[in-house]
Amino acid sequence: MTGKSLHPATLAAQALGWTDASTGAVILPVHIATTFMRDPDNQYRRGRSYGRADNPSYDQPQALLTALEGGAASLLFSSGMAAAAAVFQSLPRDAHVVAPRVMYWGLRSWVRNFAEASGLAVEFVDATSLDALRRAVRPGRTRLVWIETPANPLWSVTDIAGAAEIAHAGGALLAVDSTAATPVLSRPLSLGADLVMHSATKYLNGHSDLMAGTLTTAREDAFWARLVAGRSSGGAILGSFEAYLLLRGMRTLYPRVERACRSAQQIAEALAAHPDVSEVLYPGLPGHPGHAAAARQMIGGYGGMLSIRVRGGAAAAIAAAARVDVWKRATSLGGVESLIEHRASVEGADSPAPPDLLRLSVGIEHPEDLITDLRAALNASG
Ligand SMILES: Cc1ncc(COP(=O)(O)O)c(C=O)c1O
Repeated sequence: MTGKSLHPATLAAQALGWTDASTGAVILPVHIATTFMRDPDNQYRRGRSYGRADNPSYDQPQALLTALEGGAASLLFSSGMAAAAAVFQSLPRDAHVVAPRVMYWGLRSWVRNFAEASGLAVEFVDATSLDALRRAVRPGRTRLVWIETPANPLWSVTDIAGAAEIAHAGGALLAVDSTAATPVLSRPLSLGADLVMHSATKYLNGHSDLMAGTLTTAREDAFWARLVAGRSSGGAILGSFEAYLLLRGMRTLYPRVERACRSAQQIAEALAAHPDVSEVLYPGLPGHPGHAAAARQMIGGYGGMLSIRVRGGAAAAIAAAARVDVWKRATSLGGVESLIEHRASVEGADSPAPPDLLRLSVGIEHPEDLITDLRAALNASG
């Protein structure tokens, strides 16, 4: 399959249509070797030498992700955090970085505790405002603008094309954490981003049984070469079996994400009318501040993630989460099972999550069961 005229959903379902030339198997073997033969004249003409640098089991998932993102190349990492950290760690020591105030809290915390300590100057801004991004970028000094859209846990939206223009005008790269959007709903590289990152632990794998991360680049340039060398020498690699599991998950990415989006939209609309819910944060609702930008840059849906604010504050929110049955009280997102979580309990003091916020990751169950379960949990608090 060349992929030129095929829909991304077809490329994903067939994992680019690769088959094993020697056996005809429609699923490629998992390569577990950590070392590869040299040629008699001491060369490595087959391109593989050692498992930390090269793993044939990465080829298909990396190629598939590259095709889905419309990029030039991709790298698998041992977690989403390892992928994100690789970008920050590959910058010059004293680089200035612009990052959003609303972002995955774990990365914000790592940036504060580790990236800043190692010399980076990171400025956190309201990334829903292009003016704020423009003011923060220091031409010639800012090397990276990092955004996440829609962003955890408020599902704020950043205009990717606008952010790319601002970053590039200042001589910086734009990297997008597109975990919540997935390549199904957003293609940041086509909007001018230089790098796309995913916590593949979430939707790309989709079954809450694997930790992985990815980076995809628009160009195989010097910065990308540094990322490739950094993974190989730093060793934040994925195991062969995990790479296979990730590929298996990616084959069902489209139907999973499409279903989750439709259900999330239904759940958001149902809860917006609930007397015990003061606000529903979902970019698919016309009243969400990021709706217009999301409608411009997202394809066919607004994602499977939303948050609700429960009247009665933190105690009422935690009590409602305690009463669900179909939803599972757990962190993470993007799996086939729906998850609910009181976010302020997780994120710590500098979290933008209000104390009454519950984050919902919508899975692929029947949406009526999810709505009935949530209504029952909320009604009991009223
Ligand atoms: C948006 C986002 N980015 C990055 C990460 C980090 O990924 P991982 O947990 O795979 O390291 C997460 C994890 O929750 C996330 O939600």
